[in-house]
Amino acid sequence: MKLAYVLLLYIVIVRGGDQSCHNDHDCRHGNCDGHNLVYRCLKTNHDSSGQCQCLECLTNHDCPHCHDHQFQYCSGRYYTCGCEECTHDIHCTNCAVGQTGKCHRHHDTERKFCQCEGNAQTTTVKSPLKLECSHRKISVIESIAENLHVEDNRAELCPDTTKHQTSEAFVINKCNSTARSSWLKGESVKSLCSSGSITQYTPISTFHQNENMAAFFIDCSASNHELKVAVQTCTDPPYILMLNETTSPKMSDFHIILQQL
Ligand SMILES: *[C@@H]1O[C@H](CO)[C@@H](O)[C@H](O)[C@H]1NC(C)=O
Ligand SMILES: *[C@@H]1O[C@H](CO)[C@@H](O)[C@H](O)[C@H]1NC(C)=O
Repeated sequence: MKLAYVLLLYIVIVRGGDQSCHNDHDCRHGNCDGHNLVYRCLKTNHDSSGQCQCLECLTNHDCPHCHDHQFQYCSGRYYTCGCEECTHDIHCTNCAVGQTGKCHRHHDTERKFCQCEGNAQTTTVKSPLKLECSHRKISVIESIAENLHVEDNRAELCPDTTKHQTSEAFVINKCNSTARSSWLKGESVKSLCSSGSITQYTPISTFHQNENMAAFFIDCSASNHELKVAVQTCTDPPYILMLNETTSPKMSDFHIILQQL
């Protein structure tokens, strides 16, 4: 690692020439022949002047977007762009209620990763309850057989329509649930699947910032990363859907639903 650093610094300095600068503007006539490199004003610590050098990035904003829920960062040490699962704690949103997401750096690989910690909210006024409605199994099956949309005014409207027939509408209606705004993320379906502790027709959901799916759990295989659910969408009446880790949404996006009543 040390050697790589020294080598990189050497390359940066040799390539960079020695035009001194006060800001990036001073370096605008410089020419970097490598791909994705920009001629920037690199200052050491708090010096007011620096030298024009060819760099991939100086700040996170210089880095192209990362895919797949990863976050971009500019390594302050090597001035190169990278993608991480997180760069700050706020990126770790996949924790159960009461837990706090922390962004840690791995000792060996130096990559950052999210970890859910603690039981921070044990003193909440009213603890949320698990939304349970496996007793509505027959009704869910009937809706699949009928192949007709289930509507419920407590759910949002489908885009550009006057129909409350989202994936939430199916769950809300069968479970007599409150609206999604009162839902909280419970345990991950994937981990419940591994321990075999989730019952058929348990209502489950993704908890992204937007674009979510609510459904009924039917079956799963932890080893094959397969999840079978009953779901309706704005366009499709209730049907059986197979999910895995390559589908969208993917298996690991799903959690049981807690209701803050
Ligand atoms: C549905 O829930 C409401 C309260 O949220 C309750 O008043 C009503 O009786 C419930 N309906 C059924 C069919 O359980
Ligand atoms: C995931 O599911 C899709 C759609 O059902 C399927 O085409 C694909 O083969 C599955 N991938 C794996 C790895 O099982």
